[in-house]
Amino acid sequence: MPVHVTRPAGPEEVLAGPAVSAGLRQVEKRLRSLSASSRLPSVSRAVTRITGAGGKRLRPALTLAAALALGGRIDRRTVTAAACVELVHAGSLVHDDLMDGAAERRGVRTLNAELGDARALVVGDFMLARAALTALSSLSKPVAETLAATVVELAEGQFQEAAELFDADRTPESALCSVRRKTASLFRASCLVAHPDGQALAEYGERFGMMFQILDDLLDLGSTAELLGKPAGNDLRQGVYTLPLLTAVRGECADLRPFLGRRLNEDEIGTVLARLRAGSMAEETIAHCRGLAADAVAALPGIADPEAAEALHRLPYACLDGAESLLVR
Ligand code: IPE
Ligand code: IPE
Ligand code: MG
Ligand code: MG
Repeated sequence: MPVHVTRPAGPEEVLAGPAVSAGLRQVEKRLRSLSASSRLPSVSRAVTRITGAGGKRLRPALTLAAALALGGRIDRRTVTAAACVELVHAGSLVHDDLMDGAAERRGVRTLNAELGDARALVVGDFMLARAALTALSSLSKPVAETLAATVVELAEGQFQEAAELFDADRTPESALCSVRRKTASLFRASCLVAHPDGQALAEYGERFGMMFQILDDLLDLGSTAELLGKPAGNDLRQGVYTLPLLTAVRGECADLRPFLGRRLNEDEIGTVLARLRAGSMAEETIAHCRGLAADAVAALPGIADPEAAEALHRLPYACLDGAESLLVR
């Protein structure tokens, strides 16, 4: 499938370090068993459908690198924490696809497309609760609390976004507030659950997460479904006015304002995307994200482990380069 050939390198390719790579292989095993842990085979199959379809495994890689960076080891507990983080992420994607009415994710059909909304909804619930329960039974109360609190924040961020659909007056600040809750919170948590001293990397995780979502928002406007393995232009179609769009419309693309505040037909979506792509939206967003990557790296504490130091320094930039390579004109 071309999707997998053209997608940006996952952390395993970026972080060639032996400890994180070996840890990620353990995470895959743990994730497979967690995914198949339902009493109902059809629920296990549905969870496995999404967790087994790929994904960059960025958040578990963060957890593993954070554990090493803070002087810990990548042991069974770290691997379980990383798998739980990925399960929260994947569960949130199941709900997100349902909310977006999206038919493709990670290059395969979504659960809502395959099984219908009702079953997708409860499979997402299962995944989120399974992650917190596993943390409680196999890790610790604080780790379970961190994951549950992150799901709360994620829900609030998603709610806020849903409440502002087609709002032509949505401000960049409001878009960023939703980004912080729905995405940066889980990047932060990926660091927090890695080690009892995870707080030392929380700010790094948060800034990285902000950058990551803004890049994803840019790709929705500036790439294609073939390259992304998920729909493109969908934010516009669904009325999600993201930071790159809001910034462009407040600047050089003020002529696009009449396209906000209402549902667009496919011709209009094509017109808006072509206009944005002809302007400097991509360049400006990438420059902004480069600044956020630098801010993230600047928040890193001193790290003794060379593999972890390299991974944490390089990851945000690898995401930037990956996103840039997926932009089309
Ligand atoms: C998609 O995240 C959802 C966002 C927060 C933008 P990823 O781009 O990390 O998705 P996968 O895990 O690689 O599929
Ligand atoms: C991220 O937002 C969704 C979550 C944090 C759950 P998006 O809606 O932009 O994610 P994609 O683009 O569908 O992957
Ligand atoms: Mg979405
Ligand atoms: Mg998106």
